[in-house]
Amino acid sequence: MERLDKRLAATGSWSRKEARELVRAGRVTVDGRVCRAPEQKVGEEAVAVDGADIGAVGLVYLMLNKPAGVVSSTAEPGERTVIDLLGEGRRDIGLFPAGRLDKDTEGLLLLTNDGALAHRLLAPKRHVDKVYYVEVDGVLDGDDVEAVRRGVALADGYVCLPGELELLSDRSARITIHEGKYHQVKRMMAALGKPVAYLKRVGFGPLVLDEALPKGGWRALTEEEMRALFRQ
Ligand code: URA
Repeated sequence: MERLDKRLAATGSWSRKEARELVRAGRVTVDGRVCRAPEQKVGEEAVAVDGADIGAVGLVYLMLNKPAGVVSSTAEPGERTVIDLLGEGRRDIGLFPAGRLDKDTEGLLLLTNDGALAHRLLAPKRHVDKVYYVEVDGVLDGDDVEAVRRGVALADGYVCLPGELELLSDRSARITIHEGKYHQVKRMMAALGKPVAYLKRVGFGPLVLDEALPKGGWRALTEEEMRALFRQ
């Protein structure tokens, strides 16, 4: 269950403030009844704006190979966003990134206008796997593998859930984490004394980055990828 204004804003079409205004203006129905309370909790009910079901309007699922230098948001003054990378006609259909990568992180980002799916995938208790290719300043060894397996204690005292670190070379590895804290991989590697020099996400839940996508390139998910995502 989540607040009605939050559910509306999750579609990417309205800010939280705009969503509240829509609701107060009587333009939003929940299971067919006008609801003027933005704080109303909604679950499986059908939510519609001006009679159009927000869950039924052209749901789109794109895999983006995010380049460094763009931010994972829909609009940010002075910044190029992941939505700016999409061509004409794709920028105004309420797409938003399901999750965030830092400005300097590259790789797999799911863009969708399906707020309910994004909400499910990002719910902390679901522990959707995230897989990264990482290069560090320093030399990785078996102690790091073991530390990640046990759960790295970050500088602020938070102990990460156990993850998997697979060494690819002295300075590069594949790391799988099962949560998505702010700057998590960077903070984990910093706590191990081997700060991140390069970071690229290569997996998100059942999705694997399509290496045929150039940096900044995107494509729609395949039927198979969508089925896997909905089973998640
Ligand atoms: N961990 C990070 O530190 N940064 C990212 O962008 C993703 C995971």
